Amino acid sequence: MSAPIARPEVLSLRASQIREVANAGMEREDVLAFWVGESDQPTPSFIREAAASALLEGKTYYTHNLGRTDLRTALSAYLTRLHGRPIGTGRLAIANSGVNALMLAAQAVVSPGDKVVVVAPVWPNVVEIPRILSARMQTVALDRAQGHWRLDLEKLMAALTPDTKALFLNSPNNPTGWVLPSQDRAAILERCRKYGIWLIADDVYERLVFARPVAPASFLEMADDDDRLISTNSFSKAWRMTGWRLGWMVLPPALTEAMGVLVEYNTSCAPDFIQSGAVAALTHGEEAVEALRTELRAARDQVLGALRQMPGVEAPEPEGGMYAFFRIEGHANAMALAKDLIDKVGLGLAPGSAFGEEGEGWLRWCFAARPEKNATGLARLANYLNG
Ligand SMILES: Cc1ncc(COP(=O)(O)O)c(C=O)c1O
Repeated sequence: MSAPIARPEVLSLRASQIREVANAGMEREDVLAFWVGESDQPTPSFIREAAASALLEGKTYYTHNLGRTDLRTALSAYLTRLHGRPIGTGRLAIANSGVNALMLAAQAVVSPGDKVVVVAPVWPNVVEIPRILSARMQTVALDRAQGHWRLDLEKLMAALTPDTKALFLNSPNNPTGWVLPSQDRAAILERCRKYGIWLIADDVYERLVFARPVAPASFLEMADDDDRLISTNSFSKAWRMTGWRLGWMVLPPALTEAMGVLVEYNTSCAPDFIQSGAVAALTHGEEAVEALRTELRAARDQVLGALRQMPGVEAPEPEGGMYAFFRIEGHANAMALAKDLIDKVGLGLAPGSAFGEEGEGWLRWCFAARPEKNATGLARLANYLNG
């Protein structure tokens, strides 16, 4: 009998390099950490209070596979308002986080051996999830031009061949802050329609774009209900709810019932009282989202401005999200640099190689922190470079 081990796809998953750096620095009290992707402030209190009341009232039972009706109704109203076209409850499924939504979307459309295209660098889960399902992955790398991240559309189009099953696209992008321009969105949707390619749009940062006026950042503005589009999303980022583990999907209506069945066999449903917090977030959360976006825009300006003053630093401008992705001349090995920064100056950054080989040599700074914390981190980096 062979050894009792996991499937080869599971054994070949890359361990998280962010974890590796975090483990190296976690026990040192003097380390200032910018490696995780979350705000350093807790969830707004009105959301916490709504969930706490629901818990005290006894909302502790299983709910519908697709999520509670009042939550789906609130979500439908929110998405319809945001995207300027009706998005009915019949297209919605609540998931137990953004990453769970991605896994469910992948389980719904990806079969073993399917070709899946991903734009990279990208949050590792976006690549590893289809790999767990035995997909063949092809990455298309972002470039840089005039201080911005940029997608070479021709390169992506060349990868989107008739045998492609799905394109996973994350914009605004983690780790780079790249935002897909709307004219490219239209071209990509057209190509996916032509070849019947599923478009899995990871929209978790869609509210966190810095341009003014804030332009829509999702395929949902232009797609028809029946397009092969799944928009995956989360309460984690825009409402500072990372620890709640709640997300959602917008689906073609023909897929919704099957998705409910898939939810049954993954998590069965999202926690009841957590959904009460989400209803509050959607119905009374606009001010909080706007405040976060304003904060992040200021933090982006602070961190980017300082990085660009430092010798040998290349820092393209993030147009959305909560990260600066930058590199330092003479440091080609991101993991070695991230560990050295912890050792020498107590600065905790995520190595770019965590986001695929396209990120090798780069570092990610989550700037969703108070200005004083960002300033202290920037001073430590300046010390490192001067020392
Ligand atoms: C691109 C991207 N997608 C999805 C998620 C998932 O968020 P969550 O699972 O907390 O909802 C994250 C979190 O960092 C992310 O960066």
